[in-house]
Amino acid sequence: MRIDVLTLFPEAFESILKVSIVQRARQKGLLRIVLSNIRDFARDNYRSVDDKPYGGGPGMVMMCQPIFDCLEQVEAAEATKGRRILLTPQGQPFTQELAGELAQDERLILIAGRYEGFDERIRIALKPLELSIGDYVLSGGEIPAMVIIDAVTRLLPGALGDETSIEQESFAASLLEYPQYTRPEVFRDLRVPEVLLSGHHANIRDWRLQQARERTAQRRPDLLTAPSNSKQEKQSDFQDNRKS
Ligand code: ADE
Repeated sequence: MRIDVLTLFPEAFESILKVSIVQRARQKGLLRIVLSNIRDFARDNYRSVDDKPYGGGPGMVMMCQPIFDCLEQVEAAEATKGRRILLTPQGQPFTQELAGELAQDERLILIAGRYEGFDERIRIALKPLELSIGDYVLSGGEIPAMVIIDAVTRLLPGALGDETSIEQESFAASLLEYPQYTRPEVFRDLRVPEVLLSGHHANIRDWRLQQARERTAQRRPDLLTAPSNSKQEKQSDFQDNRKS
């Protein structure tokens, strides 16, 4: 997969490029990330990328021209144009399901803005998929772009060491994850639940499913009534994931 990012702060992405999963996926040749600086496409002496809103009001608005020019050049770099994605709090909520869909694409083009917002003609003419990572306002689209890169990269086949862990994860089964334990059996008087030490696979699966249901009911009851949770009762999601 190729992910292009159009941003005013390419340097902000240096950290994520070095983070384990993204780094590993790039080294394995599963992922290529190409950063483009929108400001390189500004045409005036001040290298302006934003301007005051028509009609007045606070803040600045991202101008059409630098974004259109940047996008046109980026798209022309490959035969596959890719899916245009605009990061904005006005967008459709980004979910695990959507991450799974995006992970199937050959190419994503993420447009991260700053300032008060985008000139509406960017939406009208470029028709991007608009995505929000949550109901809060960040000072730019860089962090949302990194969230999407991380969530999508770990779903690329071969990016994670153990593919079954994706299946078992929270949201993949529309239930929150069951409690996990590792060595030692007792830590500061806190014991690992007996059933997990029993080696009885059916009991372990039942316990995990029950724990996941209880945890979901307590913390995220909305997930239990969501329309897309038809998989939630799928027992196989709770099977012992040890390699035999
Ligand atoms: N830009 C600013 N806030 C955002 C959010 N919550 N999601 C996506 N893009 C944003």
